[in-house]
Amino acid sequence: MSPTDTTKPAKVAKKSPALKTSAAALNKAAAPNKAAAPKKTAASKKPKAAAAKKPRVMAAPKMSSSQSLDVDDHKVTVGKSFSDNAKMTMRNINVFYGDKQAIYDVNIDIAKNEVIAMIGPSGCGKSTFLRTLNRMNDTVEGCRVEGEICMDGEDLYAPKLDVVELRARVGMVFQKPNPFPKSIYENVAYGPKIHGLADTRVDLDEIVENSLRKASLWEEVKERLHQPGTGLSGGQQQRLCIARAIAVSPEVILMDEPCSALDPIATAKIEELIEELSQNFTIAIVTHSMQQAARVSHRTAYFHLGKLIEVNPTEQVFTMPEHQLTEAYITGRFG
Ligand SMILES: Nc1ncnc2c1ncn2[C@@H]1O[C@H](COP(=O)(O)OP(=O)(O)OP(=O)(O)O)[C@@H](O)[C@H]1O
Ligand SMILES: [Mg+2]
Repeated sequence: MSPTDTTKPAKVAKKSPALKTSAAALNKAAAPNKAAAPKKTAASKKPKAAAAKKPRVMAAPKMSSSQSLDVDDHKVTVGKSFSDNAKMTMRNINVFYGDKQAIYDVNIDIAKNEVIAMIGPSGCGKSTFLRTLNRMNDTVEGCRVEGEICMDGEDLYAPKLDVVELRARVGMVFQKPNPFPKSIYENVAYGPKIHGLADTRVDLDEIVENSLRKASLWEEVKERLHQPGTGLSGGQQQRLCIARAIAVSPEVILMDEPCSALDPIATAKIEELIEELSQNFTIAIVTHSMQQAARVSHRTAYFHLGKLIEVNPTEQVFTMPEHQLTEAYITGRFG
């Protein structure tokens, strides 16, 4: 029986006004004050329509063994790993680099239109796990992935699957902005061209403009579309890379520490953008910033030494984590 059969729907997980408050509280943790407390006004109440849109998540099977800070004792992920509205399902995922195992028996769903954050100490396997979602690990020599990963029920590791097409459907934005050494226009137009998404130059122009608009970059670059993408600032380059990913109409966008090379203003712009993009796309983001995870994500997954320890609504992870290891991490005891 699959884990989803054994669980009941639980509360929805999407970001709420309360979460924004908890993110603000995290930011102000060093100097808490009464002003940070949530005010119960009519405006702060959640509209019903918005609540209906939230991805539904379900509880994972409860741990039978007692929780322990020794990761060797960890057998089953605690929290709400599964969804009855899954875009991607991952079952029994193990990843190896040669003889060395980097990911141990991970089971999780990513819900449609959710933003899921992946956090954990350096080397715990966040990037390795993220890369399994669009088979980027295929390009890493000696890397082997076991288990089943499906998108809308389709096996992404089926031998006949077109991997180039998959990487358009599941786009990726990396830590360091990596525009092609081409013009701003060509950076965005390249994908639609090779995937045959535009019949005419007018169509292509439209895709480029729309993608740059969605990436909140259009106004800043519309007068210089034919200048090199590498001439933009770091934050602009990262938005260009997001525009490039969007241009091929992906279903899922993977982001591996997309703001770690950016200043706070550029970071804030990308975070705003993530919120907007989640209306249309499903997003998995790896981040070292707990504040960022709290600000942008609906659910948070905590990894430790290759194991998925806990998945829960983000607000819960940062205010009432279910596992001792998660608590130890968010309170700064390691990582
Ligand atoms: N190409 C590789 N060859 C061999 N081992 C690797 C390779 N890439 C990663 N690893 C190992 O796999 C484990 C997980 O690495 P990974 O890069 O996924 O961690 P991470 O959580 O993303 O870390 P960070 O936060 O530092 O980016 C680590 O022990 C790492 O040394
Ligand atoms: Mg990494």
